[in-house]
Amino acid sequence: MTSYMENDTDTHRNGAADSNHHTAKKPKLTTLLPISEPLIHEEFSHHQPGVARLNNGSFGSCPRSVLAAQSAWQLRFLQQPDDFFFNKLSPAILRSRAAVRDIINAEHVDHVSLVDNATTAAAIVLQQLSRRAALGHFNRNDTVVMFHCAYQAVKKSIEAYVTPIGGSVVEVQLPFPVRSDDEIVSEFKKGLEKGKLNGGKVRLAIIDHITSMPSVVIPVRQLIKICREQGVEQIFVDGAHAIGSLRIDVKEIGADFYVSNLYKWFFSPPSVAVLYCKDNSKNVHHPVVSQEYGKGLPVESAWVGMRDYSSHLVVPSILEFVNRFEGGIEGIMKRNHDGVVKMGTMLKESWGTILGSPPEMCASMIMVGLPSRLCVMGDDDALRLRSYLRVYHAIEVPVYYQALRNDDRDPRDKDGFITGYVRISHQVYNTIDDYHRLKTAVNQLLEDGKVCSGLPKE
Ligand SMILES: Cc1ncc(COP(=O)(O)O)c(C=O)c1O
Repeated sequence: MTSYMENDTDTHRNGAADSNHHTAKKPKLTTLLPISEPLIHEEFSHHQPGVARLNNGSFGSCPRSVLAAQSAWQLRFLQQPDDFFFNKLSPAILRSRAAVRDIINAEHVDHVSLVDNATTAAAIVLQQLSRRAALGHFNRNDTVVMFHCAYQAVKKSIEAYVTPIGGSVVEVQLPFPVRSDDEIVSEFKKGLEKGKLNGGKVRLAIIDHITSMPSVVIPVRQLIKICREQGVEQIFVDGAHAIGSLRIDVKEIGADFYVSNLYKWFFSPPSVAVLYCKDNSKNVHHPVVSQEYGKGLPVESAWVGMRDYSSHLVVPSILEFVNRFEGGIEGIMKRNHDGVVKMGTMLKESWGTILGSPPEMCASMIMVGLPSRLCVMGDDDALRLRSYLRVYHAIEVPVYYQALRNDDRDPRDKDGFITGYVRISHQVYNTIDDYHRLKTAVNQLLEDGKVCSGLPKE
């Protein structure tokens, strides 16, 4: 077992965030103990006791050892800000970028920027699109193609940056529940055809690697190959949930832009994300302009004015944490995937329902159908059930409403059509009891003859 210790001998720098000009120093290796169940418990002992946290997907989680490393960085800044700013910050950000580069297999650390979150990355990508439009690379019938269930912030970014330049959006319906990659590929192809109607060009395809709600792993490589064949100009993969739950190889994936949050499944504190840009050209900028403007996105992103950068500096400490698990991060991914499939299967069997996708189309989250008798008839009902489970049972789990398609693929249980799903997550701190509590809470509602619209509104 090895530990990555930050190397303190990095010297000088001559400005705020000129990290491109440094080479990352290899971390020192020391020995750490492998982790055990009690130690895992201790690492997450700041979690409120008694809460079944089945929603790692939304906000992630950060172990105590990484939080301690973050506090140490914050203190080092406060102890001697001038020295920190001139001598420590830039090399430390570079160390984090270099570590992430290895994880996602980017060509070079210059293609890797650390930003706050996927929302910031979406602004970066869409702003460069609108800048290209200003330079004449956009015509009236040009389009952006994406899934209808793309994350709301991404959709709003399109409204903010693409609509004003006269572009329109084609939304591809994600088939759900979904049975195979082919179903997704077929819908996506239709979307691309639509995007090219009236002589337009698809300027950008936005493809989730793992959709948020409903949650499904998307066959990105297949879709990107099709995009390239069809002449799509740029591809942005929203892998907000990917690092720590799926293996990522950005060279193999072949997108122009790839973002992944580190705080969801890679144990970082809030908040940090990686944005990979295949072409590290000067046309891509951070939305917050600082004195680093024009030095390339990685450098621009490393200084966006005075703020707390500690969450961007802890990647080596995260590696230390994950390497205490058998198989490191790959071992954690497998453990979570196997766990979520097992627990999802247990729930669907107890409730007599279905999984929203085959196990191979999920990573560390899976959709499980809720019994039709609960009558999840819309988003309000879904929210009511989610609040009820949190307030009355201390269970954190997102609930999703899926309208019927009115065809023979609409899923049924013994009493009727399934229109509600829970999205369960599995992270290393979860126990079987968390999922049994959810099973029992739902079964109790059925036993009491309750439907969602009758649940108290919190
Ligand atoms: C698919 C997807 N994209 C983007 C985001 C936005 O992430 P953030 O809030 O970190 O910007 C999320 C958040 O859950 C997401 O699920």
